[in-house]
Amino acid sequence: MAWNGRNFVDIRDLDRNDLLSLLSRASAYRDREPVVDPGGPLAGAVIANLFFENSTRTRCSFTMATKRLGGDVLDLLGSTSSTSKGETILDTARNVAAMGVRCLVIRCSQDGGPAMIAKSLDTPVINAGDGVSGHPTQAMLDALALIRFFGADSLDGRKIAIVGDIAHSRVARSNMVSLPTLGAEVALVGPEDLLPKTTDLETFTDLDAALPGCDAVIMLRVQFERDATINDDYRDQFALTRDRMSTFDGVVLHPGPMNRGLEIDDAVADGKRSLVLEQVACGVAVRMAILEHIVRT
Ligand code: CP
Repeated sequence: MAWNGRNFVDIRDLDRNDLLSLLSRASAYRDREPVVDPGGPLAGAVIANLFFENSTRTRCSFTMATKRLGGDVLDLLGSTSSTSKGETILDTARNVAAMGVRCLVIRCSQDGGPAMIAKSLDTPVINAGDGVSGHPTQAMLDALALIRFFGADSLDGRKIAIVGDIAHSRVARSNMVSLPTLGAEVALVGPEDLLPKTTDLETFTDLDAALPGCDAVIMLRVQFERDATINDDYRDQFALTRDRMSTFDGVVLHPGPMNRGLEIDDAVADGKRSLVLEQVACGVAVRMAILEHIVRT
């Protein structure tokens, strides 16, 4: 493996073999009964969740993964931590690490925050989403949901569109690396000002031109909290509606939380070709595989 397995902070640290190896292990976990194994690989270990930004899926998922592997969780939320008194996230991480935790799972609004902390501490760090830069465990769970749906070993030959507010999406940034590494042809779709200024990937400003032939479409939330601005016709131009679902045969993913009725319709989000909740289930399995790998490295 090219990845040293010590920290999991940037999807670019992993090559194709690293990704496939972790996904294979995660798939085995996805097949297991969702029960706690008190004698699992994390028995006796405490994993610290340091969430300086809000989260439902990622935080609960890391908690589930830790518990299922026999570990215990120390949970710190930014809103109730001493960062509200001006403490830096590095000092917070240093103090929690000094308590003897086995690994730090960090979500923060600072781009590169988890990588910066990983460089400063001996305790392993997992990036649970940093600013608009990356969300590597989300990219892993998206890949797992897709690979399992296709019944394949990789994403070789698959055509995948990432649609919406790409400019503010850390999920997109990680998937723009992992999906091509796993063999997919990836297209980015959105209004001009929400697309990256430079990219090697194909870009579309017309969703209807991009959808035909897609094996999967990853819809993204418009991130109003990061000051995304959209035109009044955004829904007409970029929403995945029931009508648009009839123009391609693939499946639909969304990392959540969803703006229902804006970027995605209820009938699509809850429809037969939606992998949204399967993504969530795969999230626990992926995080189990990553935590297991880190504590065994
Ligand atoms: N997909 C995702 O990161 O969701 P949360 O913000 O709820 O963790």
